[in-house]
Amino acid sequence: MLRRCANVSKVASKKRIAVIAGDGIGKEVIPPAVNVMQAVGAAVEMTSFDWGADRYLADKVTVPSDGFVMLAREFDAILVGAFGDPRVPSNIHAKEILLGMRSQMDLYANVRPVRLMDVSLCPLKGVEPKDVDFVVIRENTEGVYGDLGGVFKRGTPDEIAIQEDINTRKGVERIVRYAFEYCASNKKIDGSPRRRVLMCDKSNAMTHAGGLWQRVFKEVAAEYPKIETQHMYVDALCLQMVRDPRPFDVIVTNNMFGDIITDLAAGLQGGLGMAASANLHPGRTSMFEPVHGSAPPIAGKNVANPFGAILTVAMMLGNLGMAGEARKIEAAVLEAVRHGKTTADIGGAMGTREAGAWVADKVKG
Ligand SMILES: NC(=O)c1ccc[n+]([C@@H]2O[C@H](COP(=O)([O-])OP(=O)(O)OC[C@H]3O[C@@H](n4cnc5c(N)ncnc54)[C@H](O)[C@@H]3O)[C@@H](O)[C@H]2O)c1
Repeated sequence: MLRRCANVSKVASKKRIAVIAGDGIGKEVIPPAVNVMQAVGAAVEMTSFDWGADRYLADKVTVPSDGFVMLAREFDAILVGAFGDPRVPSNIHAKEILLGMRSQMDLYANVRPVRLMDVSLCPLKGVEPKDVDFVVIRENTEGVYGDLGGVFKRGTPDEIAIQEDINTRKGVERIVRYAFEYCASNKKIDGSPRRRVLMCDKSNAMTHAGGLWQRVFKEVAAEYPKIETQHMYVDALCLQMVRDPRPFDVIVTNNMFGDIITDLAAGLQGGLGMAASANLHPGRTSMFEPVHGSAPPIAGKNVANPFGAILTVAMMLGNLGMAGEARKIEAAVLEAVRHGKTTADIGGAMGTREAGAWVADKVKG
């Protein structure tokens, strides 16, 4: 059941999901994802919110007052589409909603699994699904995305722009520890244990922040003697990712590098339309979203791939203790891919609604 209201009554047996489709293709991929969640019979109660560019343009509200407190209090999880609209060139609504949610709800661990579902989806030669099965753990509340800094002498030839890179010991330590815990407690798709955490940085050039990450990584690693460790500079890692992704297992990195390398990694699994993510703070209300943005050029055309959003729903249900439903959804998406029941970005001829409906139909059985 999908309701539009602000006051949510608690239904003990069902998980309460806040749904925020947002802008652009977010508004197209979230409805099929919601349909799949209903079709699989997940014990959820959903409430939709109209936060996004339309609302901002109508009444200048990005996040209603106490909006994040309300989400944390009333919901078990938040399902988000995407934000970004050419009518709001400042992107202020996206910053306040998305980056605000991540920082104010302290969703410090951005977990982005990179899995190749089918050989047909990978642009690399000779790479099979078992060769692409890693996860990127991205620090989600610090780094250069905190919007700290300023512009001095704006508009003059002497203009100076400063963008601060914030790295706290607490922030670095908890994300690095999260990565080791993830490695220790998660298996690969083939059932084998995860073994290695790789820390990615640019500490040769960014010595102050990089030095902190290096020291913390070594300290935390010492607590996990059974887990192998590795380090790569971000530029070398990008090269390795397209030459041979097989050695990657768990990668931990900062906010900006995580943002960039997960778009590259999405290329290995079929593109942005296939990538899912979670924004977590263990024990708290967390947020789940496809990795892609609002893609304005293709919005409103029924061509966006809904599978990233549908796989995001699977990830969310898995996190909420509905592993069976999650597996069923993933299996249905795999079947859709194998049968060519997909949108054009991954080779099919279906529209967003039709590809989503095909998966919804499959999970009913
Ligand atoms: N989490 C978010 O909400 C988020 C993430 C990234 C970008 N953005 C915003 O989205 C807007 C567009 O950004 P962008 O163009 O850099 O990134 P984007 O992810 O929206 O699109 C990049 C490319 O991928 C394609 N693509 C993305 N998702 C797809 C899908 N589901 N199916 C098929 N093709 C898909 C697009 O057509 C485009 O060519 C900007 O306003 C940006 O700030 C938002």
